Amino acid sequence: MRKKQQEKACRAVLAVVIGVLVPLGAAQAAEKVKVGLMLPYTGTYAALGNAITNGFKQHVAEQGGTLGGREVEYFVVDDESDPSKATENASKLVKRDQVDVLVGTVHSGVALAMAKVARDTKTLLIIPNAGADELTGPLCAPNIFRSSFTNWQPAYAMGNVAAERGHKNAVTLTWKYAAGEQAVAGFKEAFEKAGGKVAKELYLPFPNVEFQPFLTEIANLKPDAVFVFFAGGGAAKFVKDYDAAGLKKSIPLYGSGFLTDGTLDAMGGSGESLLTTLHYADGLSHAKDASFRTGYATSYKMQPDVYAVQGYDAAQLLRSGLEGVKGGKLDQAAMIKAMEAAKIDSPRGAFTMSKAHNPVQDIYLRKVEGRDNKLVGIAEKALADPARGCKM
Ligand code: PHB
Repeated sequence: MRKKQQEKACRAVLAVVIGVLVPLGAAQAAEKVKVGLMLPYTGTYAALGNAITNGFKQHVAEQGGTLGGREVEYFVVDDESDPSKATENASKLVKRDQVDVLVGTVHSGVALAMAKVARDTKTLLIIPNAGADELTGPLCAPNIFRSSFTNWQPAYAMGNVAAERGHKNAVTLTWKYAAGEQAVAGFKEAFEKAGGKVAKELYLPFPNVEFQPFLTEIANLKPDAVFVFFAGGGAAKFVKDYDAAGLKKSIPLYGSGFLTDGTLDAMGGSGESLLTTLHYADGLSHAKDASFRTGYATSYKMQPDVYAVQGYDAAQLLRSGLEGVKGGKLDQAAMIKAMEAAKIDSPRGAFTMSKAHNPVQDIYLRKVEGRDNKLVGIAEKALADPARGCKM
């Protein structure tokens, strides 16, 4: 009799243990978040893709390998900054790997294709660089967020800076694709509103770096300022060529800050004293910037740049979303709501999301001093992209 009672009690305890364990096990399986990193790891933007990845993983590591209490599983694709491969690459991550969130990319043309896949499949997309104005303009959508900037933002700020510095007549030069064209449009909008004139817009195909004929044309046109959008390996080559052609001494060169972010080592001294505008700088006094830089240097044995910041903030934004989910199952609507309300404690300074899901942020004026883009001041305070065409 006693033995029977003991057995019964044992069975009851076992049932309770199993009852607890089974639901816990089920919750744990649902807790994972599958992240599809679609970034350039080869080509002229390779260093940018790596910096974004490093920044993203740095924040996840700070959170003990989790985000919002969920284990992070990565699926990684090299998009080569090639728009013609973008739809297939993004579809693979969504359909084959079944990622919960796409994180990418650097190149505006590739990001535009990713946004279409995200829209069609209702997958969450966080853009950690690509500035295509459309992404948070006419193509804005509840499931599309950006942790970086629009092409308009830093370029518009530079249009005002150039005008304030007394320039009247500018020539622009960039790669002929969304990022370059929209940066030029942003610069021109502010510069011409302030009384300047863009006399000529020069373009070359992405990612060409045969700058010589354009430098000759600029020398002939003799504008009193030049504005450019270049980034990555191409930016370093351009600044070196501009200097070697003797133009740096005679015609001031300005750019969105991508020109000199993460590229100064490759330029030698050619970038010295250039002025650029961007949502990040060396010499900011935010506590978050100090801890971020120390962590980054310790993990990766190099200094971070704006791309690393954008990757880090993409992870912070995703964490905010996941923290808004109650229960084990990923609830996209709850995530979106939490991401819209997030205040991101960024190394660049805290920022919030606009209604179109783009950072509202300070744009800094910076000056190259040695290996630094030294903070000069705030060019535009809490600048929001106008989000033209966004109906949300
Ligand atoms: C872009 O294609 O949107 C782009 C690429 C590199 C940058 C900035 C913007 O540094």
